[in-house]
Amino acid sequence: MERALSGITPSGKLTLGNYLGAIKEFVKMQDEFEMYIFVSNLHSLTIEQERNSRKKNTRDLVAFYLASGLDLSKTTIFLQSDVLMHAQLGWIMQCHTYMGELSRMTQFKDKAQKHSDNINVGLFTYPPLMVADILLYDPKYVPVGEDQRQHVELTRDLAQRFNKKYGDTFVVPELHLTKSGAKIMSLANPTKKMSKSDDESEKGCIYLLDDAKTITKKIKSATTDSIGKINYDEVNQPGISNLLTIYAAITQEDIKSVTNKFKDYNYGDFKEEVAKVVVKELSQLQERYHHIIDNNEVEKALELGKEKALKVAYKKLMKVHKKLGLGI
Ligand code: AMP
Ligand code: TRP
Repeated sequence: MERALSGITPSGKLTLGNYLGAIKEFVKMQDEFEMYIFVSNLHSLTIEQERNSRKKNTRDLVAFYLASGLDLSKTTIFLQSDVLMHAQLGWIMQCHTYMGELSRMTQFKDKAQKHSDNINVGLFTYPPLMVADILLYDPKYVPVGEDQRQHVELTRDLAQRFNKKYGDTFVVPELHLTKSGAKIMSLANPTKKMSKSDDESEKGCIYLLDDAKTITKKIKSATTDSIGKINYDEVNQPGISNLLTIYAAITQEDIKSVTNKFKDYNYGDFKEEVAKVVVKELSQLQERYHHIIDNNEVEKALELGKEKALKVAYKKLMKVHKKLGLGI
């Protein structure tokens, strides 16, 4: 079975965007691939966060991985910080990356602008760590959103560079753009991505632990337009298109049939229907989440995942050491 690997950074409360755009996609993939899904908590250190909130975000992320249906017989779930080889291969990858390559990274530029009071070196060298996260496990596919494209391309470049210099060592992975969830936009500002690390957009963001009333309120006050007709048109009707995308991603119908279903609805009634499916999906998810937290299933999953991931990562790192003449 081919492998696929991905990770999410515990940098804030999880959103509907994370769920539809990433986690639900991982769940679908596990029938076809041997999955490695981790919590990139070392990456979360690039942005300041209080210790307890980092811990809670980490636990919640694993609980939501499990609640969404990731199955431990198919998917290895682990913490990046539990597998010490990530930081070590990360260093090795830094020594094979050029300053120019990192200076071009748009995510670095964005984040440096947003956190101008804390432009730490880790923010700059984050991509080679991500390269290491991937290459340790030889995945064929890396399912991520469009915003991670550059990092996966760098991973391919470094894998090829290393293989060429030292002989065959790494599988060159492919970007697997998460398609079904597409990109979920902010409800308040539908030309901006719904994002967990974006504090100003509370209103535009549905969090996975929001209650039914809050979800309904946020959807009902979603920004739309004055056209008055339900169409899928990202340019002229980004708000309505976003609601159609959300509905389709939850019900797993295609956009065309969803658009057709609601073509004679007014905006208020349409929003009501969208709210209904979101509330239903998230309330079921929350029920499983609470069960998982109450039964210490997070701890059990991470114990198992750590053991499996350590073995794979250790073997790969030793191969790299040998090629580089680390040791005698
Ligand atoms: P982030 O929250 O930006 O760290 O992203 C974690 C994962 O969730 C990545 O695979 C993203 O592509 C995905 N993701 C985050 N926000 C959205 C969104 N608004 N729509 C779709 N996917 C998203
Ligand atoms: N950088 C990714 C993000 O912010 C998270 C991540 C870290 C990741 N390492 C990875 C994703 C390796 C895929 C593979 O969303």
